[in-house]
Amino acid sequence: MINEIISEINGKNIVEQLKFFAEKFNGSIVFSTSFQFEDQVITDAIFSNNINIEIFTIDTGRHFEETYKTLNKTINKYKKQIKIFFPDYQLVEELVSKKGPMSFYESVENRKECCNIRKVEPLKRALKNKKCWITGLRAGQAETRTNLHAVEFNNEYNLVKFNPLIDWTFEEVKEYIKNNNVPYNVLQDKGFLSIGCEPCTRAVKEGEDIRAGRWWWEDNSKKECGLHLK
Ligand code: ADX
Ligand code: SF4
Repeated sequence: MINEIISEINGKNIVEQLKFFAEKFNGSIVFSTSFQFEDQVITDAIFSNNINIEIFTIDTGRHFEETYKTLNKTINKYKKQIKIFFPDYQLVEELVSKKGPMSFYESVENRKECCNIRKVEPLKRALKNKKCWITGLRAGQAETRTNLHAVEFNNEYNLVKFNPLIDWTFEEVKEYIKNNNVPYNVLQDKGFLSIGCEPCTRAVKEGEDIRAGRWWWEDNSKKECGLHLK
């Protein structure tokens, strides 16, 4: 099936590709957004063209104020709904009662525990019974992402994963945002090139990697939160 899809979308632009997926996986296709530049491109393509793809976000409870403002700007502009998933409150209560609100700085295990509770568990619920999951991943974002494909079968969630921007450069993404007047997270103008939770994201300096500001105290090879691990 994957090869069939790849040949069907070959040569199509992003809107045509999204329309193809929406028809093929009618009603069981979702796009996950964290309101970064890449995600805003896909959101704009879906909402502006009334494509039948549900958009959801995971509110970890630790986002930047600017990220919530981007969510707000987005729903106001397109007059559409974005579904919000929260972490299981009992798991969060247990974690922060036991280890405090900053346990993620203490070890990679603790950091992954927090990501599992605040991101991965809600993601599992969001993807339940879905047949296709769209993301804003780009190969150019990190060394851990260079072997990703536009269309792949994801065994973990038993669905087709579509990464429409996989081959886009950061420049192309920014150009789309500008040309189409797409609302974006103002932190992107302040050196935050990849934006996750507030305590785990910092701006990057000139010449640093796009994701250098994510979990900056950790070694590069560990910098995935578990959402996109194979
Ligand atoms: S992460 O794994 O390091 O957090 P990253 O921030 O690069 O991922 O985002 C890559 C893609 O993961 C986004 O384009 C989006 O599809 C998805 N994603 C990341 N964070 C969230 C979130 N909080 N809610 C929904 N989707 C998310
Ligand atoms: Fe927790 Fe940081 Fe992961 Fe957010 S990025 S879920 S705060 S460890």
